[in-house]
Amino acid sequence: MSSTVDVDIARIMIRRGLLPADRFIVCNGFKPAGSSYAANILQLRALRHKTLPVIEDLSELPPLVKSELHFGVGLRLKTYGRHPSIEAMDNANSRFGLDLDSLWKAADYIAAAPNLDLTLFHAMVGSQILSEEDFIERLTPGIEIYARMRQRAPTLRIFDFGGGMPAPMTLDFDFDYHLFVRLLLTKLSDVCGRYNVPVPDVMGEFGRYTTSEHGAHLFKIITAKENGSKLPWYIIDGSIMSSFPDSWALQEHFIVLPLNHLDKPFQQVQLGGITCDSDDVYPPKTSHSPLYLPVETDDLHIGFFSIGAYQEMLGGVGGSKHCVVPEAYELLIDRDENGRYQFQILPGQSKTDVLENLGYQLTP
Ligand SMILES: Cc1ncc(COP(=O)(O)O)c(C=O)c1O
Repeated sequence: MSSTVDVDIARIMIRRGLLPADRFIVCNGFKPAGSSYAANILQLRALRHKTLPVIEDLSELPPLVKSELHFGVGLRLKTYGRHPSIEAMDNANSRFGLDLDSLWKAADYIAAAPNLDLTLFHAMVGSQILSEEDFIERLTPGIEIYARMRQRAPTLRIFDFGGGMPAPMTLDFDFDYHLFVRLLLTKLSDVCGRYNVPVPDVMGEFGRYTTSEHGAHLFKIITAKENGSKLPWYIIDGSIMSSFPDSWALQEHFIVLPLNHLDKPFQQVQLGGITCDSDDVYPPKTSHSPLYLPVETDDLHIGFFSIGAYQEMLGGVGGSKHCVVPEAYELLIDRDENGRYQFQILPGQSKTDVLENLGYQLTP
């Protein structure tokens, strides 16, 4: 988890029997002394033995020591990105994790604290990393530091490689998960062998990988327009930039497929949102990937797939969107205990919701 509300969610999950006592609760994120997150973690620890705070900053340690509760703790290394050497990694410009000097200080502080055991080492090196070899190269400085730290801290036993595990966001996705795991275990084994320390248990934090395929967004093409632009415009009944901020902000791609007219000829097109914003287009402006859709646009529907991670955040759920476009209806698909699909429709925003969000009083 990453913030104080997550602690409350963990508590609800415990109450509902969804979080068995043998599961670790790994507490990432900033938790300075005096913050509600720090206090909430201490309360959760009273309920759950396996609550494991991961330290982002030295100032997060004193509240744990003062609590006199026994904690296994993790240390997060400042290593986001790609660094040719350990020295270069230490100069990285990242707000996450401890530089090497602070890391060793934190390890000493934990060793001296009677109620803390150094248990986990966290090295997160990026998100949506598309090459297995690149992923391993990014992790290598962290693995070296893990092994050195293990020589001094015999309680250390988990290497947490954090986020970064990619999800299929384009049709040519070919990341080989088995190969990645093989390369990671081999690297850990080689480096730990060199330092003469046991190999760790390996943990990952699968954000995008877990959630991206849980969401798709369906649109209708409301009009097709040929106005001498480089490609025909297909205008959708919603907004690309509001629905998928990462496509315009980070030039990210999603899997876009037609839902009907699949038997018709296809042509290369560009999509436009219904808003007034010139950036409300897809493929992203800097993209070289062509988008093909059916020539037939009468009642054409399309889907944006793999949108379950990190989208729809800017306006927030139930918030005000760009050009006051109301939030879409949601269709929840689940399976019952007999394996049958269950469907539930959650209403989107009405015009009234949008107007009231903006402060217009519609009732006198
Ligand atoms: C500490 C930490 N772990 C895991 C993740 C998930 O990353 P990803 O979506 O790349 O799996 C994040 C995302 O920002 C994070 O900050």
